[in-house]
Amino acid sequence: MRNLKSIVFVFCLAPLVAFASESAVPLDTAPIKPRDMTSLQRGAKTFVNYCLSCHSAEFMRYNRLRDLGLTESQISENLIFTGQKVGELMTVAMPKKEAKQWFGVTPPDLSVIARSRGPDWLYTYLRKFYRDDSTATGWNNLVFDKAAMPHVLYELQGEQVLNVKSEDDGHGGKHEIKELTLAKPGSLSKTEYDAYVADLVNFLVYLGEPAANKRVQIGIVVMLFLFLMLVLTYALKKEYWKDVH
Ligand code: HEC
Repeated sequence: MRNLKSIVFVFCLAPLVAFASESAVPLDTAPIKPRDMTSLQRGAKTFVNYCLSCHSAEFMRYNRLRDLGLTESQISENLIFTGQKVGELMTVAMPKKEAKQWFGVTPPDLSVIARSRGPDWLYTYLRKFYRDDSTATGWNNLVFDKAAMPHVLYELQGEQVLNVKSEDDGHGGKHEIKELTLAKPGSLSKTEYDAYVADLVNFLVYLGEPAANKRVQIGIVVMLFLFLMLVLTYALKKEYWKDVH
């Protein structure tokens, strides 16, 4: 009985723990459009160019990218740099053991990252890298402190640095406000870079559930069908009962 009580108690606390582990940095809303095919295509291109060298997406086959409105030859010409065939999985060339030696951790598979982290976290994470000489890579991240991943898009975004301001919290204490400022501009402006990352996150969301668009479409067709049946059945019922009343 005592055991049961403590289990129930722990369950009641679970939401609090989840809340506490959330990052203190507010997340920006990812402006993604899951049905925008050109955005998804741009995201796929960024993904294979900048992410697939370290991260795999092992639940995804290249030829599935036909979903995004691409032909097989476009896929093999523009999106495959590993010499793989279009029917193969998006695996990574880097051996896991060596990756672990280089980074201290193996870069995780990104197939379902959008489901575990959520699009807003990803959108914020990919825009909040800053220079930090104390880390092995020379980079740090506002939403993922001491992440072992270097800022692979820095040539596009530029280099940000951290400014910490302390502010009165209104109760006699202080709290810190962390802000990033652009110390060295990259090849894209801030708005361009935000849009670039939004396309990438759009693609990561698609990776997490490639059938999502189709599921919505099927859902709509099913609802329309049921509605039509309702109208028909009602008309039929009226017809049958006409003489009774
Ligand atoms: C040079 C290798 C490398 C490249 C290229 C790279 N990453 Fe990473 N990434 C890592 C490593 C290593 C980690 C693990 C960080 C840690 O746990 O400290 C990581 C972690 C992540 C995480 C956090 C995963 C989690 O929830 O713990 C995300 C998201 C991510 N990477 C996305 C990307 C995206 C998107 C790209 C392409 C723009 C990319 N990465 C390119 C090495 C890389």
